[in-house]
Amino acid sequence: MDDERNHNTSSSSLPSLCKQSASSTHRGSLELDIPVVDLSVSDEKFLMREVTKSSEEWGIFQVVNHGIPTDLIRQLQVVGKQFFDLPEAEKEAVAKEEDIEGYKRNYLEGIKAWDEHLSHRLSPASVINYKYWPKNPPQYREVNEEYTRHMKKLTEKILGWLSEGLGLPSVALLQNLGGEMAEYVIRVNYYQPSPKSDLAIGAAVHTDVGAITLLIPNEVPGLQVFKEEQWLDVEYINSAVVVFIGDQLMRMSNGRYKNVLHRAKLDKENVRMSWPVFVAPRHDLLVGPLPELTGDENPPKFETLVYQDYLHQTFEKWALDKLYSS
Ligand code: OGA
Ligand code: NI
Repeated sequence: MDDERNHNTSSSSLPSLCKQSASSTHRGSLELDIPVVDLSVSDEKFLMREVTKSSEEWGIFQVVNHGIPTDLIRQLQVVGKQFFDLPEAEKEAVAKEEDIEGYKRNYLEGIKAWDEHLSHRLSPASVINYKYWPKNPPQYREVNEEYTRHMKKLTEKILGWLSEGLGLPSVALLQNLGGEMAEYVIRVNYYQPSPKSDLAIGAAVHTDVGAITLLIPNEVPGLQVFKEEQWLDVEYINSAVVVFIGDQLMRMSNGRYKNVLHRAKLDKENVRMSWPVFVAPRHDLLVGPLPELTGDENPPKFETLVYQDYLHQTFEKWALDKLYSS
């Protein structure tokens, strides 16, 4: 298994419309603004509708006043940055081996992907491998543990609204991901500036393979989503969390929620960083359109698969894609 997302692949297997307008970027028009949902509003029904609508129309939205303390977000960013500032040999202490976890450096001349990253599981406790959590800086573990507690709460809140938006009890989606056994994986992305930033890309065009992703960026722009045949910049909002619908929520909702196509560009001068947390089903669970949502009038649009098998299929596709594009 390579990674939680399509990092190295070219866009050759993606719909051709993505490739056509890969360089056009749209800013600003009102109806094309990525939704921002303020969670300090006390009307839960309103929040449920906003989150549901954003997931149906966009597959991405930002949340503000989400309850994760700003100071904790800042600490998460500080310990992440401190890790990447270590000498290469020290970062290699947590180097990636077979699985998705660990540190990997990916700066290859002339190739599209250009990044270094560190990934490791955060939850459930039974799947955590602390050998992939940096020992330096010393506060790394404590800050990540505290962040995980908040991240899970926020994820569960959003999954609750998304369940209700489908007309289901609020626990439905989380339960179908394995409840407490749903897997949370953090990836700290570090993209060095590139003078050739129009040629190289930090994160290639992809959708996230899991259920839902909650991401904190730093202030350097670069994240873009594909909507209405153009690439739109995701505006940086201090302390906001960017929420992406991934493949599994699209499949479980029988296509009601959209898995959003996105990419990360490089900056010419500044280091861009981001901290996505990928929330995925327990690997042995069957995932497909929820039976409550399908029937004679609404046949399943997706095959039901064991999540592990879906991952293998997807990674194989990515590997082939890489082969064909090189
Ligand atoms: C990812 C991703 C975008 C970014 O890691 O899956 O989409 O902003 N990252 O770094
Ligand atoms: Ni992604």
